[in-house]
Amino acid sequence: MSPAGALASIDALVAALAQEGYLAERRLATAVFLALRLERPLLLEGAPGVGKTELAKALARVMQRQMLRLQCYDGMEQREALYEWNHAAQLLHLRAMPSPTENATDTAAATPNLEQAVYQDRFLIRRPLLQALDMPAPGAVLLIDEVDRADEPFEAFLLEYLGEYQISIPEWGTVKATVTPITILTSNRTRDLHDAVKRRCLFHWMDYPDQARELAIVRAQVPQASEALALQVAEFVAKVRSAAFASHFERLPGIAESVEWARALVMLQAQNLDAPCVVDTAGVLFKQQDDVLTLQSHLDALLA
Ligand SMILES: Nc1ncnc2c1ncn2[C@@H]1O[C@H](COP(=O)(O)OP(=O)(O)OP(=O)(O)O)[C@@H](O)[C@H]1O
Ligand SMILES: [Mg+2]
Repeated sequence: MSPAGALASIDALVAALAQEGYLAERRLATAVFLALRLERPLLLEGAPGVGKTELAKALARVMQRQMLRLQCYDGMEQREALYEWNHAAQLLHLRAMPSPTENATDTAAATPNLEQAVYQDRFLIRRPLLQALDMPAPGAVLLIDEVDRADEPFEAFLLEYLGEYQISIPEWGTVKATVTPITILTSNRTRDLHDAVKRRCLFHWMDYPDQARELAIVRAQVPQASEALALQVAEFVAKVRSAAFASHFERLPGIAESVEWARALVMLQAQNLDAPCVVDTAGVLFKQQDDVLTLQSHLDALLA
């Protein structure tokens, strides 16, 4: 499907994403559709492994755009996200320039404008945000991944980009988007984002999928799994998440874990989920020993 075709309606977008292996529920597709049509950044919040990053990747394929990814972390600085000047090259360039005394006849001409000499395009190192603005048609998909991991001051660097799709570089001027980049921010909500960031974005909370969607995802991604096994995986994981004791788990399994679990079970040639099989493979679903123990203590209820 062409990018224009994918944007014809929400249903068309759902179908185009599905063609790329991403099964989106309608509310998510609506949020994406509106973000694209209104040219607004989209902030996706949700638990780990519910498909936030994967959505940006699938969307880039649907829109036939290059994806640029900014992986955020604590202590990240503007120069890693926006741009920086290549100081070493600037210095070398300055050193190589003729000194004014070498040409005593025309001192004014021999004293070049140093600023012009050092703030040239070739000394500007473009980082993902600036690369996204500069990307020629059809433009970029910019994924600002796990923005909650960066510290609060970093969010201030994003505001101009998110609000106006431009970046002001004091020594250079303002760079405006050639084609509006499709911009997706993701957050695991380890902390609340600043209102100023949220105001500039559309927002969608990504929940765990319902059992039918999870089954469809597992079947699509692990075609070697029998329908019966895939169904048992989807049922089991849905039960884990909705159980009365679900809050005893520190971290619930995401879609990524369900898919991985189905793959593991196929590898072990398991035909059916039984207690020994679940216990032996618990480390695919849970990554904390306390959670594995909680699982074991409720196994009967989950397998009933
Ligand atoms: N709707 C979906 N359709 C198809 N596959 C999906 C979907 N959602 C998730 N997945 C699968 O789950 C995996 C994990 O998803 P993803 O990495 O996008 O999660 P995430 O929300 O970004 O997690 P984290 O917060 O840990 O980064 C993907 O690689 C993909 O295989
Ligand atoms: Mg992710």
